[in-house]
Amino acid sequence: MTIVSSPQTVSTEPELNGFDVHKIRSDFPILAEKVRGKPLIYLDNAATSQKPRAVIDAISHVYEHDYSNIHRGVHTLSERATAAYEESRQKVQRFINADSEKEIIFLRGTTEAINLVAQSYGGANIRAGDEILITGMEHHSNIVPWQMLCERSGAQLKVVPINLNGELLIEQFEQLLCDRTRIVALSHMSNALGTINPVEELITMAHQHNIPVLLDGAQAIPHMAVDVQTLDCDFYAFSGHKLYAPSGIGVLYGKAEYLEAMPPYQGGGDMIRRVTFEKSEYNAIPYKFEAGTPSIADTVGLGAALDYLDDVGMDMIAAHETRLLDYATEQTRQIPELKIIGTAANKGAILSFVLDKVHPHDIGTVLDHFGIAVRAGHHCAMPVMDFFEVPATARASFAMYNTFEEIDSLMAGLKEVIEVFG
Ligand SMILES: Cc1ncc(COP(=O)(O)O)c(C=O)c1O
Repeated sequence: MTIVSSPQTVSTEPELNGFDVHKIRSDFPILAEKVRGKPLIYLDNAATSQKPRAVIDAISHVYEHDYSNIHRGVHTLSERATAAYEESRQKVQRFINADSEKEIIFLRGTTEAINLVAQSYGGANIRAGDEILITGMEHHSNIVPWQMLCERSGAQLKVVPINLNGELLIEQFEQLLCDRTRIVALSHMSNALGTINPVEELITMAHQHNIPVLLDGAQAIPHMAVDVQTLDCDFYAFSGHKLYAPSGIGVLYGKAEYLEAMPPYQGGGDMIRRVTFEKSEYNAIPYKFEAGTPSIADTVGLGAALDYLDDVGMDMIAAHETRLLDYATEQTRQIPELKIIGTAANKGAILSFVLDKVHPHDIGTVLDHFGIAVRAGHHCAMPVMDFFEVPATARASFAMYNTFEEIDSLMAGLKEVIEVFG
């Protein structure tokens, strides 16, 4: 493959009052990297986002000054590590406006959070003949744990269909809610399409039938302010690594009334009050769900990421990313061979697309020659690919540090892709 020339950049980004993208970029060391001799253009943020210096430093600080195991020690380092870990819990509580820090469970990420609810809540409450309602745009991690529960319990998985814009069919949602439905689990924002679901409305409908709702917030939380009390969701799952925090740490928010009634998910140290060979007494929430040594430094890193996001302001980030998405969508009009997959009226900063006669993997490979990182594949949402009858899409996903110039480079790169394969 010969790459003809290097993409040119043309645009100048209009100022967003109080938001300095260049200052933000300077906080992310990796953005100074070169890839294949070109400045890195990182547009794979829906898969995972890059980390600001504040997060990297917070992790180093733990290992250099405060590292020890938590909760069990009487020595100073253990007290310091415990304080830093628990402080992160309070930061998460404030960040999503949970009623209490007891409602914040630390675990590995969204996947583990959904598995926890499926196994613990589902195991205790869902039986043969019951129904679990998900949607046609879910990530595999919000499909497979429920299928596994169905296999164990004899319950049935029901799926709310989507339309060709990638929007949920709300009337069908309402019709599928019934007295057999035991839980609704849906994405707040789709990773494959960018669709932002009208979750408040859907939660109100589900609650009219006394059905709890789990929101998969993996994609939504990096892009918008989330207030779990306003949403009134019963569970909210998200991963640190998409939120500028380390991988290996994530959160399950659950309303205390649910968490208190749910059996533990895993057994081990820290989740118990007392153990005898006859019987064990479980700890209070949230510790009941945090068996074993957690990812201590990464949890502190998550707290640092939330501080950073508070400083920048989620509303600013949302406004900047909306402009990026609008600009990118507009620019795609210059490329008639390009078809956007996911054209919902309410969308987050994700541009999923296909190009005539070019496989998405080839798009990704050619763009990489220009230092541009996009994702190509099924995005762990194979049913979405089946619905749109494509094997895969290419996906450019934006974050607070992306610029209009980078979008220009992406468009120029795509024209080169067409040139190479056309
Ligand atoms: C919508 C959605 N849900 C769940 C996940 C799974 O997140 P994790 O792999 O961090 O557990 C992802 C990750 O891409 C996602 O985009």
